[in-house]
Amino acid sequence: MKSKASAPGKIILFGEHFVVYGIKAILCAINKRVTVLAEDIPENKIIIKSRIKDLVLSPNIPISQVDFQLRPFYYLADKIIKEQNEKSGMQITVDSEIPLGVGLGSSSACCVAGAAAISGVFTRNSREEILEMAIEAEKTIFPNTSGADCTVCTHGGIIQYDKQNGHSKIDSKPKFHLIIANSKIEHSTKEIVSKVKLFKEENKEKFSNICNEENNLIEDVLICLNNNDFGGIGKSIIKNQEYLEKIGVSNEKLRNMIEIANQSSFGSKLTGAGGGGCIFALTDESNKEITLQQLKENNYECFSAMIDFKGLDTF
Ligand code: MEV
Repeated sequence: MKSKASAPGKIILFGEHFVVYGIKAILCAINKRVTVLAEDIPENKIIIKSRIKDLVLSPNIPISQVDFQLRPFYYLADKIIKEQNEKSGMQITVDSEIPLGVGLGSSSACCVAGAAAISGVFTRNSREEILEMAIEAEKTIFPNTSGADCTVCTHGGIIQYDKQNGHSKIDSKPKFHLIIANSKIEHSTKEIVSKVKLFKEENKEKFSNICNEENNLIEDVLICLNNNDFGGIGKSIIKNQEYLEKIGVSNEKLRNMIEIANQSSFGSKLTGAGGGGCIFALTDESNKEITLQQLKENNYECFSAMIDFKGLDTF
């Protein structure tokens, strides 16, 4: 039996890092996808084929011994083979349009598409069940995940998310063009989240004030989204970047990219964990091309994306 699923990448529009401490974040899915094909095989092995590496492993080995980025696939396959009391194995083939390790949700899209495809070899599950499995699998590479990334990759569109209330869809369907530029600096989300934790512990009051400001900013953004006010959203993007600077997750290269993008777009900021990864700039038809051109003239790799409203897709 073969089972195939795809899930979109994402960007965090607002609230990364602060979401870990209970503040609301706003995320959207983007039209770049990971596709996973899973099939059961007679041999009692778990085979993973991906652009990172090809792995052939026996079931039941400790997860810490599995190649870091491929752990979610192994975890899901091993768990599902055990649940089914199967003596057979599984082959998983991963195909991705999302750059790796730069904050565009590549690992969450892998977890979501992986959970749907791998479990789909034996059973059909609801989106909520798949999301639960995907978050569990994501914890093998990132134990402190808030679950926000997997949530938006599963549901698509724009969501608001906070740890206490979970996710809810934001109904507005703005025709943003998001210009995404890659710093080409790979980052470890886990390390940067730990760095922010340390900053919080050493600067309790300052951190709490920034969280309050972020909270107010998000409330303004929700109104702007409702009114399709791109100028207002852009101003909030610039403010959010200031808060991210204050907690130490930006760097020289990101600042340079943001400065260039701010000349023509409505506003730009880093997205995801920071410390490298990507920035995005908010544009529409009027300023999309010029923003792309200016970033390219400065030798930054960039592309334009739109919001994906489909989310998880199974075949
Ligand atoms: C990483 O894409 C987003 C962070 O806020 C961590 C998380 O929400 O789990 C940095």
